[in-house]
Amino acid sequence: MTKFYLAPMEGITGYIFRNAYHHNFSPMDKYFTPFISNKGLGKKELNDILPEHNKDMCVVPQILTNSVGHFLRITRELAKYGYDTVNINLGCPSGTVVSKKHGAGFLTVPDELDAFFEEIFEKSSFKISVKTRIGMEDEAEWEKIVEVYKKYPFEELIVHPRLRKDLYKGNVRITAYEYVCQNIDVPLCYNGDIVSKESCESFLRAFPDTKNVMTGRGILKNPALISDIKEENVQKPDKLRDFHEELLDGYRSIMSGDMNTLFKMKELWGYLGENFAGAQKQLKKIKKAQKISEYEEAVRSIFTDCEWKCV
Ligand SMILES: Cc1cc2nc3c(=O)[nH]c(=O)nc-3n(C[C@H](O)[C@H](O)[C@H](O)COP(=O)(O)O)c2cc1C
Repeated sequence: MTKFYLAPMEGITGYIFRNAYHHNFSPMDKYFTPFISNKGLGKKELNDILPEHNKDMCVVPQILTNSVGHFLRITRELAKYGYDTVNINLGCPSGTVVSKKHGAGFLTVPDELDAFFEEIFEKSSFKISVKTRIGMEDEAEWEKIVEVYKKYPFEELIVHPRLRKDLYKGNVRITAYEYVCQNIDVPLCYNGDIVSKESCESFLRAFPDTKNVMTGRGILKNPALISDIKEENVQKPDKLRDFHEELLDGYRSIMSGDMNTLFKMKELWGYLGENFAGAQKQLKKIKKAQKISEYEEAVRSIFTDCEWKCV
């Protein structure tokens, strides 16, 4: 049976989102937190990983660093809250991240990456997984990176087969995924552009040995995606309303002022809105809303007057 993971998405898939999703749609087998940077566990990161904020879910914290010291310090903190597994971000394409050789930038120095893994595997008892791109500029980089990954007993390797220069656009580089399947012996998870039952099935037909699939934007566009893939019989429109309500209430309960909550909700509608037919007017109102009441009115109108293409 395929296992499904929710991709980490900074600013979106924090614990409020994870809970609203988990309570209303097909539960994920694993949830990955947005990255914890070198600075470690501040208030936001701590809230995100607290066990009481992640009940009945399998949550894997993600760390973005190239420093053994920071890795060990953050995992020691995480252990206090019961965690024994961590994911390392080797894919973040942001300019400021990459320039510090963090995220996808760390892939440009495979020897340093190798030394980093050697030391953390020696010094840490954590189970370690990696979420990786396939290089920065050129697919030819991938072979050398895979040579490094091959040497270590990762819990799993999550591969988003794009280069840093691709950002999140264009077709995934599926031959690079094929290459890693043929050349490595650790459990693999595929990530990239799984947005429908069809795209999931066609991927699994091509790669029957891949047992784990991670989805990100596909869930934001259609939170019922995994129910669709699994052919579960759920009252999808009701669930979407309940999900939306839980999300809105959740943000309102932790954020100061309407604008911060609205910022979060507007970002989500950038994805969710794609699957509503004839909702241009309402989506514009959502974008312009300055008060929760204006926002709620526009959302009510979408839910009652517009066709949700995912039903
Ligand atoms: C807004 C946004 C934030 C993201 N934040 C993270 C992150 O914190 N850590 C990470 O590993 N990937 C992050 N990603 C990448 C996603 O986890 C995922 O790899 C990417 O969206 C491709 O998968 P998809 O096609 O299923 O969306 C982010 C992507 C987006 C769009």
